[in-house]
Amino acid sequence: MTSTTPSVQDKSDKDRVIIFDTTLRDGEQCPGATMTFEEKLEIAAMLDTMGVDVIEAGFPIASDGDFEAVNEIAKRTKNAVVCGLSRAGQKDIDRCAEAIRPAKRGRIHSFLSTSPVHMKYKLQMEPDAVHDLVISSVTRARNHTDDVEWSSEDGTRTEFDFLCRCVESAIKAGATTINIPDTVGYSVPEEYYDLFKRVRENVPNSDKAIFSVHCHNDLGMAVANSMAGIRGGARQIECTINGIGERAGNAALEEIVMAMKVRNDKLPYWNNIDTTMLMRASKEVSAATSFPVQYNKAIVGRNAFAHESGIHQDGMLKNAQTYEIMLPETVGVKQTSLVMGKHSGRHAFIHKLEEMGYKLGQNQLEDAFVRFKALADRKKDIYDEDLEALVDQEMTAAHDRIKLVSLTVIAGTHGPQRATMKLNVDGVVKIEEAEGNGPVDAVFNCIKALVPHEAKLELYQVHAVTEGTDAQAEVSVRLAHEGRSMTSRAADPDTLVASAKAYLGGLNKIVMKRARDMPAPVAAAS
Ligand code: KIV
Ligand code: ZN
Repeated sequence: MTSTTPSVQDKSDKDRVIIFDTTLRDGEQCPGATMTFEEKLEIAAMLDTMGVDVIEAGFPIASDGDFEAVNEIAKRTKNAVVCGLSRAGQKDIDRCAEAIRPAKRGRIHSFLSTSPVHMKYKLQMEPDAVHDLVISSVTRARNHTDDVEWSSEDGTRTEFDFLCRCVESAIKAGATTINIPDTVGYSVPEEYYDLFKRVRENVPNSDKAIFSVHCHNDLGMAVANSMAGIRGGARQIECTINGIGERAGNAALEEIVMAMKVRNDKLPYWNNIDTTMLMRASKEVSAATSFPVQYNKAIVGRNAFAHESGIHQDGMLKNAQTYEIMLPETVGVKQTSLVMGKHSGRHAFIHKLEEMGYKLGQNQLEDAFVRFKALADRKKDIYDEDLEALVDQEMTAAHDRIKLVSLTVIAGTHGPQRATMKLNVDGVVKIEEAEGNGPVDAVFNCIKALVPHEAKLELYQVHAVTEGTDAQAEVSVRLAHEGRSMTSRAADPDTLVASAKAYLGGLNKIVMKRARDMPAPVAAAS
C-alpha cells in the first residue's frame, strides 16, 4: 500500500457499511445486460466469495426465469443475505417470499413510489392511499421474513413531510432497512447528505432501522452522492459491479469500496469486500453482460493503471507514488506482460490465468488451452488482453447450443460477397451458403438461413483488442428480441469469424432465455 493509502484502523461497528449489490437486479434490468441463468449463478457465487453483504438476485414476479434464478441463488449462497425485489402488491410479495425461502438469510425488498410526479402519473393514486399501501405491503412482507427492506421510489423528489410519514409507518410495520433512492440521478451530494440527516432526525423511530443509499448516475454523481448519504447517517450502499444499471447506471461497487479504502482519512467507514477480487468481478460481469468496460473507467478500466506519457513513465520509474494512489495489486490488477506465446505449455497457461484472476472449471480450461494454442499459431505475441478476450469467450460459450464449426468468405472488389458456414445446432451439423451486401452481411445472412429468427440487429461494432495488424478483432453486437436487447461480444484474429461468433453469442442468449421460459427447439428462436 502506498503512503497515501491509510489502513482502516478503528473498525467500530458504527462505521461499518453494508454492501448491497444489485448487479443481478438493477444492473440486469438495463437494456442489453440480460444474463443467462448460469451466468447469474456464477456471478452470485463470485459476489458471495468477494464479501458482499446482501445480493439482490432479481425480481421474482418479473418472469419465471427471474424467479428460478433468485430461488437457486437462495439455495446456493453461503454467506450473504439473498434479497428479492417486489412491488407493493400482495402477489408480488408472496412470489418474492417463495423465491427467497431456501436462503440461509433472505430479504424481501418492497418498493413504492412516493414523489408527486410518480404518484400522480405512474401510480395514479392519492398520497393517503400510497401511505396505506406502504403499511400493508411491509406488514405482508414481515409475515414472511423478519428481514424487510422498504424503498421510497423517487425518494429524492418526494415531499419531505410525506417521505418522513411513510418512513415512520414502514418502520412501525416492521421494515428493518429503509432505502431512499435517488431513482433519477437528480440529487447532488450536499442535498443527499442533508436528506438523510433530516429524515433520521425527524422520524421518531428512525433508530429502529438501517438507512440505505441507492444512487443512479444520470449526472455522474452516483458515487459522490452515495458517500454523502453515508456521511448523513446511512449505513448501507446499493451498488453494482462496473456501475451497470438503468440509463446511466448505478453507483459502481468498485469505486465506492476503493474510495473508502484509499481515502479512509476523509471517509472513515469500512466494509467486508476483498478488494483483490474487484478486477475479476468486473471482467466476469462484463463477459456475462457483454457490456465492455470503458477504457478509462475508475479502478477497473484498462487504462486505470496505465501510464503513457513520457513524463508520467519517468515519474513512475522513479517512484510509483508519483502517479499512483493505490497499488494495482490491491484491486487484483497484474502488470501487462508479454510472456505467453506458442511455446508456452498448459502449466504456464493455467498459472497465467490464475495470476490474472480467472478461475475456470477443468473442461473450460482444456477448451481455453486448445483455443490459446490455435491463437498462438496465428499470432506471434499473445498479450494479456488477448487471453482476457479468449477466456471471456470461453466463459460465455460454455453453455452455447449453437456453435460455429467453420466459415469461408469470398470478398473483394467483385461482388456479391459470399459466405459458406457450418454450424453445430444442438449436436446437429448444418451447412449453408448466402450472399450479402458486403462480407459481414453475407455471414449474417448465412446465420439467418441456418437458424431462422426474428431478432433485429441493433448495433454492430468492431475494435482491435491490441495493437498491430495481427491484433484480434473484438466485435460487439446487440440483438433486439421480444422487447429486450441482448448484447454479445467475441474476438478472433479474423474480423468475420469474430462477427459470426458475436452474432451467434446473441442468438444463444435468446435461445437460452426462451428455453428457460418455455422449452422449444432452437430453430424456433423467433
Ligand atoms: O432506483 C430505484 O428507485 C430502484 C428501486 C426499485 C429501489 O431501483
Ligand atoms: Zn435503481
